[in-house]
Amino acid sequence: MVLSDKRQMSQKERHFDLAAYLQERQTLVEAALDRSLPVIYPEKIYEAMRYSLLAGGKRLRPILCLATCELIGGTIEMAMPTACALEMIHTMSLIHDDLPAMDNDDYRRGKLTNHKVYGEDIAILAGDGLLAYAFEHVAIETKDVPYDRLLRIVAILGRAVGAAGLVGGQVVDLESEGKTEVCLETLNFIHNHKTAALLEASVTSGSILAGVSDADLQRLTHYAQHIGLAFQIVDDVLDITATQEELGKTAGKDLRAQKATYPSVWGLEESKQQAQVLVQKAKAELAGFGDRAKPLIAIADFITARTH
Ligand code: FPP
Ligand code: MG
Repeated sequence: MVLSDKRQMSQKERHFDLAAYLQERQTLVEAALDRSLPVIYPEKIYEAMRYSLLAGGKRLRPILCLATCELIGGTIEMAMPTACALEMIHTMSLIHDDLPAMDNDDYRRGKLTNHKVYGEDIAILAGDGLLAYAFEHVAIETKDVPYDRLLRIVAILGRAVGAAGLVGGQVVDLESEGKTEVCLETLNFIHNHKTAALLEASVTSGSILAGVSDADLQRLTHYAQHIGLAFQIVDDVLDITATQEELGKTAGKDLRAQKATYPSVWGLEESKQQAQVLVQKAKAELAGFGDRAKPLIAIADFITARTH
């Protein structure tokens, strides 16, 4: 082999094809989600639950869960029920977030929102049904994982959903709407709870299923907290810079709803820079994992590079 071939080969080996990786994982997750929730009597509620659960999306939370489980030496099979549960919880939070009592949104993931299709009553129940089913699914379907680890997963999911997580973040978000002066501390509270908490649960649950050490769990938790906040900053930026087609949901609505956002505090350029800094910090936490951390590193970069 000549030197240039060798150089090309090692560059190829070093290159990680994130698009192919995400595509492969998304396909696995879609199939598992589809299998997880068959339609039985009363059909209407199962159809409403499936309508939002199978509406596409990046499937970032399940993919993070699978990736961290594999990073620590576990298998995709061990983590798939938890990965699906994370997507069920995320989906239910979006169904409720879109309701007229909250953000009153008409579009999500490029489709009409759940309540626009099934009515508010069924949309509330579809969210409740998905939330309860997430926990049942983890408990019933997880195989080859010791019970003490499984119990930790249930606690992590519960905490991420409740007042210490999504619900708490959403409450402060709703309270802050229309307020002209929202300080950075409040903004960070909202997003650490509303967005980062479930991303953190995705990363920690995957690694706990595989039997992670305390030291590695701490590194991965920091990684997740940094990408969680970066993800939200980028979300706020995209709400201003992207189109409805790119986002699959209404664009520009933060400004219209007078929502406190990172661009409203820092401006657009500073927000983009802060997201970059957080992604660099997240990647630094993975230094000790070597090549095995490539998927998580690429996912961190993808967060600031994404357009939707
Ligand atoms: C989207 O935020 C909303 C969330 C990330 C979560 C909202 C949480 C709840 C409604 C609590 C749900 C209840 C339980 C029990 C978990 P956004 O409105 O800023 O973003 P969007 O533009 O995508 O709507
Ligand atoms: Mg919303």
